[in-house]
Amino acid sequence: MCGIVGYVGQRPALDVVLGGLRRLEYRGYDSTGVALVMGDQIAVSKKVGKLANLDKELAERPLPHSSTGIGHTRWATHGPPSDRNAHPHVSGADRVAVVHNGIIENFAELRAELEADGYEFVSETDTETVTHLVHRELLGDADDLSDAVRRVCRRLEGAFTLVVADGTDPDRVVGARRNSPLVAGRGDGENFLASDVSAFIEYTRDAVELGQDQVVTITRDGIDVTDFDGRPSSVTEYHVDWDAAAAEKGGYDWFMLKEIDEQPQAVADTLLGRHDSAGRLVLDEMRLSDDELREIDKVVIIGCGTASYAGMVAKYAIEHWTRVPCEVELASEFRYRDPIVGRSTLVVAISQSGETADTLQAIRHARQQGSKVLAICNTNGSTIPRESDAVIYTHAGPEIAVASTKGFLTQLAACYVLGLYLAQVRGTKYGDEIATTVAELQKLPDGIRTLLEGADAVRTLARELAGHRTFLFLGRHVGYPVALEGALKLKELAYLHAEGFAAGELKHGPIAVIEPGLPVFVVVPPKGRDQLHEKVVSNIQEIRARGARTVVLVEDGDTSVDPYADVVIRLPKAPTLLQPVLAVVPLQVFAAELASVLGHDVDQPRNLAKSVTVE
Ligand code: F6R
Repeated sequence: MCGIVGYVGQRPALDVVLGGLRRLEYRGYDSTGVALVMGDQIAVSKKVGKLANLDKELAERPLPHSSTGIGHTRWATHGPPSDRNAHPHVSGADRVAVVHNGIIENFAELRAELEADGYEFVSETDTETVTHLVHRELLGDADDLSDAVRRVCRRLEGAFTLVVADGTDPDRVVGARRNSPLVAGRGDGENFLASDVSAFIEYTRDAVELGQDQVVTITRDGIDVTDFDGRPSSVTEYHVDWDAAAAEKGGYDWFMLKEIDEQPQAVADTLLGRHDSAGRLVLDEMRLSDDELREIDKVVIIGCGTASYAGMVAKYAIEHWTRVPCEVELASEFRYRDPIVGRSTLVVAISQSGETADTLQAIRHARQQGSKVLAICNTNGSTIPRESDAVIYTHAGPEIAVASTKGFLTQLAACYVLGLYLAQVRGTKYGDEIATTVAELQKLPDGIRTLLEGADAVRTLARELAGHRTFLFLGRHVGYPVALEGALKLKELAYLHAEGFAAGELKHGPIAVIEPGLPVFVVVPPKGRDQLHEKVVSNIQEIRARGARTVVLVEDGDTSVDPYADVVIRLPKAPTLLQPVLAVVPLQVFAAELASVLGHDVDQPRNLAKSVTVE
């Protein structure tokens, strides 16, 4: 939530900062703003709404040239979206400028103190307190901007990433972080700060991970990191393994469409190198020993939104393959119910961004209880993997559309890898059984490709159904989280009422909402050993008998549903547990097309932000 950029170098800072904001706009789009360091003061431009509004403002009222600047794209917390509440905030007759992501919890008392000191506030934000505090420190005992920021950070409570510039100090931008993301980029004669690496990937792929409670100073020549007391901190440097092209639309109208199409590769990349030629799982990065994994007597999976649905699928796979009890819990609920976890619990935290505040707080709670935490994450250097005992990275590349697509599929792939690895270590599955499932996993990218090749029919269906205001999604077993994900995609992208139900629950209530013409999507499990398939087919008959318009997702070759389906979407063959990777793809395409037909912004749905860094 909120995207932040800072730059010191040789290039026009405005171009670098605006380019960075464009890439970070998915983090919030309530307002945008930039501040440039002029040597004697700060020059600021900011505007409510998307970056395009700021572009227009800058075209009408250009800023002078500078090679040092900061910028911000906002997801509003304190104070509604407006020009006045847009960042950067300034203090001291345009001397200090601050951009901020997070919430300063003690801002009211700090504001009262500053007002008593004669500072006048022009916004309703918590951020403005920081701006005046830094200014007051610069006029007081602080040695320089870095020292002033450290002094201020020691007084702040809550979650914050700050990037601060002093109009009279042209070779320095200072950042600070506690519980919100910030990463530094190391260039040649130039350095960068940003909420994530996509903001500066065009200029450098060398990044510096920043830890909790650290202050970072970038100049043209270096990156200096200390704790809040000024003691030097050690940092981890890393090289980003994707390039600027991966963060561009590449000819697509929307990032989401590109990301849907990237899914075969993203799943293949996530499986790559995680098994040997005999189908034995190899997890070199697993920092938990086999003994530790054998001692586990319970797995608890936590995540939010789409990530929690990946966790629901994982529960079926992990319990089936390992016979270890596995619970799934929304990260936002986890720590507030006094969960029973301890030394023999493995907590698996699933997060694409690695910065979701609910998930982060949940893993901290779990670790306090002595549990081992394993993160499944897509973002190198982010907080959740940093604070976990082990991590399995998904290799989806940057996911820029706010609604998760390839993030979800790669989370599923990583969960399967984890489940099979646990089964291998604990000896609950024989080598050939594991190898057979690994071979099935390997087929998934082709299956996704096949679905994408036939996606025109799904797009046509979306256009046909565009007049409906309500949609239902039904599934059982691993089809249930698929139904939830299909409904979530439609809610967030098309702003329509969409609900996912466990098909077996239909007769316990939801069937009452079925009325003639209501579109109902049903995920049918492959025909198998148990009666699940037959039960779902009966459910389809029941809703059809009440006039629903049935859209049935069913395995290729299974014609048993044809008499009761208004529309059939054929899924490539896969074992039941792996079917979600395929079944969700048409639902993603459907939601994106419907949103586009309705004229919505597919990449940046209203009210949402990609990385939810406040609870
Ligand atoms: C839905 C969506 C969200 C995220 C959720 C968790 O399309 O993107 O529901 O899945 O906010 O985000 P991460 O995975 O970054 O923790």
